[in-house]
Amino acid sequence: MAPSTALWAAGLLTLVSNIRAVPVVSETTTTVFLEPTNLPSPYAISHHNVTSHGPYDGPPATTTGALSTSILAPSIAPAPPPPQIVEYEADGQLHGDQPMPFTPSGGIGTNGSKPIYKVASDFDYQSLALALYHEWIELDLFHWGLATFSDEEFEEYGITAEDRHLLQHMADQEIGHASVIANMLGPNAPKQCTYNYPVSNVAEYIDFNQKLTRWAEAGVYGFLPHLNSGPAANMLLQSITVEARQQLIFRQFGGQFPMPEWHTPGIPQSWAWTLLAPYISSCPYNQTRLVWQNFPALYILNQPNPARINGSAVWNETTGGYANTLSTEGIPEDELCINSEDELSDCKAAVSQNRTVPLSYPGREVFLKWDAPGQLVGPNNSYVTTTNVAEPKFAAWLSQLNVTYTPLLNVSLDDRTAYTIQPNVSTWKNNPAVNGTMFIALTDVDLFVTPYNVTMVNPHVAALAVYQAG
Ligand SMILES: *[C@@H]1O[C@H](CO)[C@@H](O)[C@H](O)[C@H]1NC(C)=O
Ligand SMILES: *[C@@H]1O[C@H](CO)[C@@H](O)[C@H](O)[C@H]1NC(C)=O
Ligand SMILES: *[C@@H]1O[C@H](CO)[C@@H](O)[C@H](O)[C@H]1NC(C)=O
Ligand SMILES: *[C@@H]1O[C@H](CO)[C@@H](O)[C@H](O)[C@H]1NC(C)=O
Ligand SMILES: *[C@@H]1O[C@H](CO)[C@@H](O)[C@H](O)[C@H]1NC(C)=O
Ligand SMILES: *[C@@H]1O[C@H](CO)[C@@H](O)[C@H](O)[C@H]1NC(C)=O
Ligand SMILES: *[C@@H]1O[C@H](CO)[C@@H](O)[C@H](O)[C@H]1NC(C)=O
Ligand SMILES: *[C@@H]1O[C@H](CO)[C@@H](O)[C@H](O)[C@H]1NC(C)=O
Ligand SMILES: *[C@@H]1O[C@H](CO)[C@@H](O)[C@H](O)[C@H]1NC(C)=O
Ligand SMILES: *[C@@H]1O[C@H](CO)[C@@H](O)[C@H](O)[C@H]1NC(C)=O
Ligand SMILES: *[C@@H]1O[C@H](CO)[C@@H](O)[C@H](O)[C@H]1NC(C)=O
Ligand SMILES: *[C@@H]1O[C@H](CO)[C@@H](O)[C@H](O)[C@H]1NC(C)=O
Repeated sequence: MAPSTALWAAGLLTLVSNIRAVPVVSETTTTVFLEPTNLPSPYAISHHNVTSHGPYDGPPATTTGALSTSILAPSIAPAPPPPQIVEYEADGQLHGDQPMPFTPSGGIGTNGSKPIYKVASDFDYQSLALALYHEWIELDLFHWGLATFSDEEFEEYGITAEDRHLLQHMADQEIGHASVIANMLGPNAPKQCTYNYPVSNVAEYIDFNQKLTRWAEAGVYGFLPHLNSGPAANMLLQSITVEARQQLIFRQFGGQFPMPEWHTPGIPQSWAWTLLAPYISSCPYNQTRLVWQNFPALYILNQPNPARINGSAVWNETTGGYANTLSTEGIPEDELCINSEDELSDCKAAVSQNRTVPLSYPGREVFLKWDAPGQLVGPNNSYVTTTNVAEPKFAAWLSQLNVTYTPLLNVSLDDRTAYTIQPNVSTWKNNPAVNGTMFIALTDVDLFVTPYNVTMVNPHVAALAVYQAG
């Protein structure tokens, strides 16, 4: 096999011309890792086509729970902002000498120090390892769909041979993403696993992809600006922008409006891991473990169903908690939007589709059920769901730039059920904050958080789900 062109195509070849050759054990099968002071290796990571799918049925794991060391406190206390941001006078004038012509003073990593494309802290390592778990599942998931569903089944949804080529291409892009992240992690980077997908037809598959790529994307936005390693952030950013396009394309494949939101939200790493882990069946022996929390599942009992003409007229039409992806089981043919002749309510794959009957709307009663903590989830059932919350009191709607809390009503702690009302909030003008593929967490307090400190809500989270607004 020729060296992968993935990184070369990204323009790195010109940059790597002065690299000391990284020892290449074998170009075909061996993962070639970055020497700490070098650029990522131009060789693609070794990978294979995962052949086993389905729930984990192996022996109980010998190690369970998240990775941890000494824990200093149950939560992080708020503190004043960094003075240099407060003090900087944003008046459009220059306030310092210029380091070179046409270059303002300031910035991070701008003083000529050599960029090193590796993680620089536990925070970086764990965040990039989480991202790598996502790239691995996508590599398999996108191939798996092509191998599992027939051309005719795709074509029923308007997904043509050319569209399927795009799906194949998106799978291949994951090789590059996995390679670049694994390089920055070094030899203990998490390996490819086996997976369990909650889908049985093309509509369910596309919806799962559309939701998974959203939480994978949002998961990276949550930590990217917090990474210690600017160079690692740079490389990851250049992959995640492609992931964002994949998310949009899966919405188009599913006949949904491609990007209803004006801003893509960022979520804490533990939210991304909570949503991903249930779909990983097993990972290889000695797999690198993660520090992140697995929250209990939240079931949206009337999760809007994009396969329906009237997507909000639903009860219990998902394939389960966490992702809450759509199920088409038992829906009468004439209620499926794919069969609609009306241009404003049909949902064949398209660049854009208007949906005249909205999937959700402010004032909608949203019915919720959640799991108790203490369940085994994730690879080899080796992680355990946890929460500090005894009694959830709020639904946190995380979308766009906002976290909005609504009170939980009719809470039953015995049944673990409640309902809440979809809020009527907006970002700018009348752009609804609650729109698109977004997130709901149950919490015990309505802690004020903004995009850069959203993780502070974690000690207050009881359960978590993807919500299909729009
Ligand atoms: C995986 O399968 C696809 C066909 O679905 C093939 O193109 C690709 O080469 C295979 N990859 C590996 C690493 O075997
Ligand atoms: C540039 O900045 C980095 C970190 O901010 C610092 O460690 C390094 O010493 C600086 N290099 C020079 C040449 O000033
Ligand atoms: C979501 O955004 C789309 C596109 O702007 C808009 O047509 C739709 O009405 C919005 N949905 C909701 C529930 O506000
Ligand atoms: C997970 O299970 C698989 C299959 O039983 C096994 O090969 C692997 O070693 C296990 N992984 C871990 C990390 O225990
Ligand atoms: C397991 O991984 C650790 C690093 O996490 C490594 O030191 C050790 O050699 C590995 N063991 C085996 C048997 O591969
Ligand atoms: C769609 O379903 C909702 C919820 O059942 C209902 O209130 C609404 O009237 C329906 N809309 C149409 C156009 O049928
Ligand atoms: C939802 O449907 C599943 C089967 O499809 C059933 O097992 C479950 O009890 C239902 N849940 C509710 C709350 O109706
Ligand atoms: C699509 O929906 C928007 C509002 O959401 C409306 O302004 C526009 O006229 C609709 N276009 C068509 C072709 O129906
Ligand atoms: C909430 O509980 C009250 C009292 O039991 C009941 O009358 C009402 O119908 C419930 N509301 C919903 C939306 O279930
Ligand atoms: C939402 O709020 C806007 C602005 O306050 C208002 O114009 C609109 O009628 C509200 N919509 C609903 C459904 O309450
Ligand atoms: C949503 O975020 C925007 C931008 O930060 C802000 O202006 C707006 O007030 C927020 N809305 C709510 C309800 O928090
Ligand atoms: C999060 O940031 C906002 C400012 O953007 C601040 O007002 C709030 O107190 C912070 N929340 C926590 C829990 O630290």
